[in-house]
Amino acid sequence: MNVPLDQITTITSEALAALAGVESIEELDERVASIVGKRSAFAAVQKSFGSLEPDERRTMGAQLQEARRTVEVAVESRRAQLRAAQRAAMLDADRLDLGDVVVAAQTWPVSLGHAGLVDSTQAELEDVFVAMGFTVAEGPEVESDWYNFEALNIPPAHPARGMWDTFYVDLGDPETVVLRTHTSPTQVHLMEAAVANNSLPIHSVAPGRCYRRDTPDARHLAAFHQIEGLIVDRDITFADLAGTIETFTRAYFGPDIESRLRPAFFPFTEPSAEFEVTCTICRGTGCRTCSNTGWIELGGCGMMDPAVFEAVGIDPDVWSGFAFGFGIDRCAQMKHELSDMRALVENDVRFLGQFA
Ligand code: DAH
Repeated sequence: MNVPLDQITTITSEALAALAGVESIEELDERVASIVGKRSAFAAVQKSFGSLEPDERRTMGAQLQEARRTVEVAVESRRAQLRAAQRAAMLDADRLDLGDVVVAAQTWPVSLGHAGLVDSTQAELEDVFVAMGFTVAEGPEVESDWYNFEALNIPPAHPARGMWDTFYVDLGDPETVVLRTHTSPTQVHLMEAAVANNSLPIHSVAPGRCYRRDTPDARHLAAFHQIEGLIVDRDITFADLAGTIETFTRAYFGPDIESRLRPAFFPFTEPSAEFEVTCTICRGTGCRTCSNTGWIELGGCGMMDPAVFEAVGIDPDVWSGFAFGFGIDRCAQMKHELSDMRALVENDVRFLGQFA
């Protein structure tokens, strides 16, 4: 019987059995010296080879090296196995169970967010006008001088341009492209399209953002929102305009708020009026917000000026109409009695949360 060879077979199978019993990478690291390293049976057997004949020592030495290499390979494969198991356990522990998240969202006192007050006010205004037979349109926020001013009967250098403190866009010739100062240019787009498509009459509202070089205060924002209204049809009178404004006012603010029209000037309507509603703070008795008048100005309106019709190619002898434009932010302020309009853009959750 070849004693050293038996020994090698025995220690190899013992080493492999020991490896199979190792449960973690840490344990493997601790035990690797006693399995294949300096403190292992391999090292002890190698030492005992000192007493062998040189020939046998060489043969047995080669056998021992091969057995040790087999065990070393097994060590690395066990290490890889343990690492894979460890990683799988980690992923398992980290896995996000979406079922749990949904349950948590339903049971935790967390808010999932909601539309802001300006957006919800715009949607409410659109609903009121849609119920009155208007369609909803949209126009661009960056306009050429033609749409924002000229087609609206405000020629270059006309003093009426002073009514709007304008932001100019650095594009093309100086002062030819603007951030729209009001939603009125959408009227021009609507009329041009209706002429091109031969689709008059027009009964539309157009809400959207506008910009003015104003210093924000309790009642003004430099970026604000308006809603424009435009009717182009046959035999439209000032009574239609007044009735539309009054119907809208009661539908949006409620039956105890009234509207009134006061003579005013706008280049694109003739005659023009400012449109005011009962002050929602004092209900008309007079307070600081309405400067003791009992009324709050919401916007402007008037009968379409023939010069505007001519600019877009509509025959003023056949068609008539009216337009109006007023502040959406101002409506939100009046309806919800906000002392300072800037709250609309400050994103304070204590404010936003009141309008969920
Ligand atoms: N665009 C005007 C402004 O922002 C408001 C306005 C006045 C709109 C008269 C109209 C109108 O449509 O007819 O100051």
